[in-house]
Amino acid sequence: MIVTEMRESIKAIGILGTGSAVPEGVLTNAQLEAMVDTSDEWIVTRTGIRERRIADQGTASSHLAYEAALKALERAQIQAEDLDLIICATVTPDMAFPATACLLQDRLGINAIPAFDLSAGCSGFGYALTVAESMLRGGPYKKALVVGVDILSRITDYEDRSTSVLFGDGAGAAILGEVPNGFGFLASELGADGASGGVLQLPGGGSLQPASLESVHRRQHFIKMQGSDVFKFAVRILEESAKRVVAKAGLAMEDVVWVVPHQANIRIIRSAANRLEIPEERFFVNVDRYGNTSAASIGLALDELAQTGDLKHGDYVVLVGFGAGLTWSALVLRWFEGGLVRE
Ligand code: ACO
Repeated sequence: MIVTEMRESIKAIGILGTGSAVPEGVLTNAQLEAMVDTSDEWIVTRTGIRERRIADQGTASSHLAYEAALKALERAQIQAEDLDLIICATVTPDMAFPATACLLQDRLGINAIPAFDLSAGCSGFGYALTVAESMLRGGPYKKALVVGVDILSRITDYEDRSTSVLFGDGAGAAILGEVPNGFGFLASELGADGASGGVLQLPGGGSLQPASLESVHRRQHFIKMQGSDVFKFAVRILEESAKRVVAKAGLAMEDVVWVVPHQANIRIIRSAANRLEIPEERFFVNVDRYGNTSAASIGLALDELAQTGDLKHGDYVVLVGFGAGLTWSALVLRWFEGGLVRE
C-alpha cells in the first residue's frame, strides 16, 4: 500500500472536466424477476438497485469510452489534439489487444500519444487517476484523458441471481491538467490484497483457462463472486483508506464536502457513512439507477455530481473504491471549477 501526499510537489494537478455515458437500454428489477428467482423487494432492500443500463450487441467499451471522453473534452474546453496521454481502466476491453485506450485514441482521431489500459476492477478509475496525476506532475505530460469503462453485462451470468442483479454498463471520463496551487489532487492511496483475489474472479478466457467448448460449458466466462466476503472487505477498506487519505491531505472528516464512493451497494455506502461519521447526504449516490458499473462507477458518479451544480469550487472531495484484486483506491481533491462548463 502506498499513500502519497501530492501537495509536496510544485505542480498541482486536478480535474479540468468530466463526462460520462450510459447505454439507452434499461434492465429493471421487474424484468430480472422474470429471468431468475428474485424479487424487486429483495434487490432494493439488499442492494438499493432499481435498474441498470445494458449495452446493445453492437456497443463495445471503446464506444462508451468515446462518448464520455467527448463530453469531458468539451467541459474542459480542450480539443482531443491537446491530449498527450490516455489511460483507460477496464476489465471488459473490446478485445485482449489492442488496448481499449488505443482504440479510443484512434476513434478520437489522434495518434502518437501514449495510450494504455489498466486493470484494477472497480478501483480502476482511482488507479488510473493516480497514475495519470503522477505522470503529469513528474513528467513532460500536460493533459491526460482518464476513462473508466465497463460492459459487465457481457460477463454477467443471467442465470445466477447472486450476481445478475448487481451489474450494469457505463463509462466515466476526466481530463487532468495543471490547476492553481492548493487545488486538485491532495493525496491518494492505492492498495491491493492479492491473497483474497479468489473471491471475485472471471476465471475463463485468460492464459490459465483459455476459451474452449468446455470452459463455455462450465460457465467460466462469467463473474464468480463470494458476495459476503467482498461486502466485508468493502466496508472495512472504505473506512480505513478514506481516513488515511483525509489525514494525509491534512484535513479532518468535517472538511469533506462530498464523498463519491464506488457504487456497488447502498448498504456498503451507508455503513461507510456511519463509520466515517459523515452524514449520508454528503455521499453522492446513483447506484439505484445504474447498479455497479465497475471501473465506470466513480467517474460516472463524479460527472453526475458535477452536473448538478452542488459541487462547488474549493470543495474537498473524497473518491473511494474497492474491487477485483482485491484492490482499493482513495483520493482527496480540492475541486477546481475553472475549466468546467455546465450543460
Ligand atoms: N434474490 C433473492 N435472493 C437472493 C439473491 C437475489 N438476487 N441473491 C442472493 N439471494 C439469497 C441467497 O441465496 C441467500 O439465501 P439463503 O440464506 O437461503 O442461502 C440470501 O439471499 C442471503 O445471501 P447473501 O449473499 O448472504 O446476501 P447479502 O446480504 O450478503 O447480499 C450481495 C448479497 C448483495 C451480493 C452483497 O453481499 C454484496 O453487495 N456484496 C458486495 C458485492 C460487490 O460489491 N461486488 C462487486 C465488487 S467490485 C468489482 O470489481 C466488480
